[in-house]
Amino acid sequence: MINDWVDKENRMRIPLIAGNWKMNTTIGEAKQLVSAMLPGLDGIKNVDKVLCPPFVSLMAVKELIQRTSVQLGAQDLYFEEKGAYTGEISPLMLADLCEFVIIGHSERRQYFHETGETVNKKIRAALKVGLKPILCIGERLEENEAGKTAQVVTDQLQSALSGIDNLNSLVIAYEPVWAIGTGRAATGQQSNETAGLIRHNVAQLYNRKIADDMRILYGGSVTAENIAEFVAQPEIDGALVGGASLKASQFVSIVQQTAEIRGRLLK
Ligand code: 13P
Repeated sequence: MINDWVDKENRMRIPLIAGNWKMNTTIGEAKQLVSAMLPGLDGIKNVDKVLCPPFVSLMAVKELIQRTSVQLGAQDLYFEEKGAYTGEISPLMLADLCEFVIIGHSERRQYFHETGETVNKKIRAALKVGLKPILCIGERLEENEAGKTAQVVTDQLQSALSGIDNLNSLVIAYEPVWAIGTGRAATGQQSNETAGLIRHNVAQLYNRKIADDMRILYGGSVTAENIAEFVAQPEIDGALVGGASLKASQFVSIVQQTAEIRGRLLK
C-alpha cells in the first residue's frame, strides 16, 4: 500500500494529480514522455498519480506504467456500450485499459457541444463499468465577472450527478474556463472558496460523509511554480494539469511538491 499515512490515519483525503495531455503526443512522443517521468514519479508516495494520454496512446502508456504506482485515465468516453457510433470509444473498451476517465471537460462542452445531459449519461456509463470519473465543472469568464460562479458550478454539478446514487470514487475537478491554457490561474483563495462550495453542494445532494471523502481538484494553468498555493488549501485535494503535464520535470515537480505540502500539513 503506497498511501500509508493517509489510509491509516483516515484524517485526510489522498491527493491526486492528473495530467490531461489533451490532443498532444503521437504514440512515440507519449512513450518518451512517460519514460522521462517515470523515474521521478514512481517513487513519490501518498499522492495518486494519473496520466491521461490520447486514446491511441493508452495501450502504450499502460504497458510502460505496469507495476508502477502510476495510474491511467482516458480523456472522454461515449455513453453507449457498443453499436453504430462511428469514431466513438465506449466505456467497455476503456474499462479494460484504465482506472479513470475525464468527463465534461470545458473543451468538450465548448467545442463539441456537450450538455449537462450528455455529461450525466457519460458519468452513469463510466460508473456502470467501474471507471472512476473525473468530472470537470467551472464557470466561463463572463459568468465569473457577472458574479455567477456559485450558480454555474452548482447547476453543472446538479445536472451531472442527477439521479446517480453511487458515485464510486468520483473525483471533481474545478476548472474555471478563464484559467485554462491562459497562464492566468485562479488564486488559492478563489479556488478554495469554490471547492468549498462544491463540497457543500455534494453534502446537500448526498451526505456529509460522501462530501468529506470527495476529492476536489483545481485545474487551470497549474505549474510547478504555483501548485503549492493550491494544494496548501484545505478544500483542494490536488490538480488536473494540462500544459505542464507535457513536461516531465514540471509534472514530477508538481507531484513532488504536493506530497511534501500535504505531508507537512498532517504533522
Ligand atoms: P492548462 O493546465 O493547460 O491550463 O489546462 C488545464 C486543463 O484544462 C486540464 O484539464
